[in-house]
Amino acid sequence: MMPRVIDLEDQSSCSLAECADALAANCFDPMDEESLHHGAGCLRGLGNNATFLGDILVRNLADRHREETDGQCYGPQSLILSDHRGNCFLRANIWPGAEDHVLQASGRSPFLYDMPHDHNFHFLTLGYFGPGYWSDYYEYEYAEVAGYRGEPVRLKPMGRQRLEEGKLMLYRAYRDVHRQLPADALSVSINIMHANPALGWLDQYRFDIEGGKLGAIISHGSTDAFLRVAVAMADDESLNLAESFVASHPSDQMRLTASDALASRFTDVAGRDAFWAKMEQSGSRMVAAEATAQRAALA
Ligand SMILES: [Fe+2]
Repeated sequence: MMPRVIDLEDQSSCSLAECADALAANCFDPMDEESLHHGAGCLRGLGNNATFLGDILVRNLADRHREETDGQCYGPQSLILSDHRGNCFLRANIWPGAEDHVLQASGRSPFLYDMPHDHNFHFLTLGYFGPGYWSDYYEYEYAEVAGYRGEPVRLKPMGRQRLEEGKLMLYRAYRDVHRQLPADALSVSINIMHANPALGWLDQYRFDIEGGKLGAIISHGSTDAFLRVAVAMADDESLNLAESFVASHPSDQMRLTASDALASRFTDVAGRDAFWAKMEQSGSRMVAAEATAQRAALA
């Protein structure tokens, strides 16, 4: 069964600060068995502390009108619990239950339910509270994939599991894929996120499970948008930057974003077609396949 389930019995509990300090002191590396075992022990200890998260939530809700406390930030679903130290940081995720009002109100997609995806980082996760979200799991071989939309991909089904309270799992970057389904009731997981700057340049994919294909690539976020805006504003520096990204950026997705931004500067079909024809020879399989699709759409 994958992602890897880690059996680790330990009744001792620790505070959030103790957990973060222990991880920082040992530089978390999930690909190293000893370090993984140490990290799993830290997360188990924090998971055995039944009050730490409630305490943080109450304190922060009470202080909401004042400045941010202790570097903890909030999204709708994620809470960053600690600073980035020792190659990692701690995070809590909230998983609304199928019947919860928030799911009825906002739909399932803001919580990543129903969207098969991989991850571009390794993380250890622990079911902290509630019955836990469900997942259909799959595995794929990253090395087999060039990364263009619609590319056939072999997904090996690994079954359905849920992240129940006390369960510890290691999700491996570029290998484990899951389609999450709502928890039966509100649930919380806590994670050690491995922050490897090198992995951040690689792409994160969506998958079309039924079609056995790669879906859209999950965007690089702000870098992607900034680059598009900079190129649209068309000063020399941005154009040079975009051209150098097209030629040699380590991320195919960033090459494609830069290509797309440059292509959008051509207002005529012939100009765009010529641009994409050049990109078919760019040396990246992924960019070349996208370029062919762009040319077909223009024709
Ligand atoms: Fe995920």
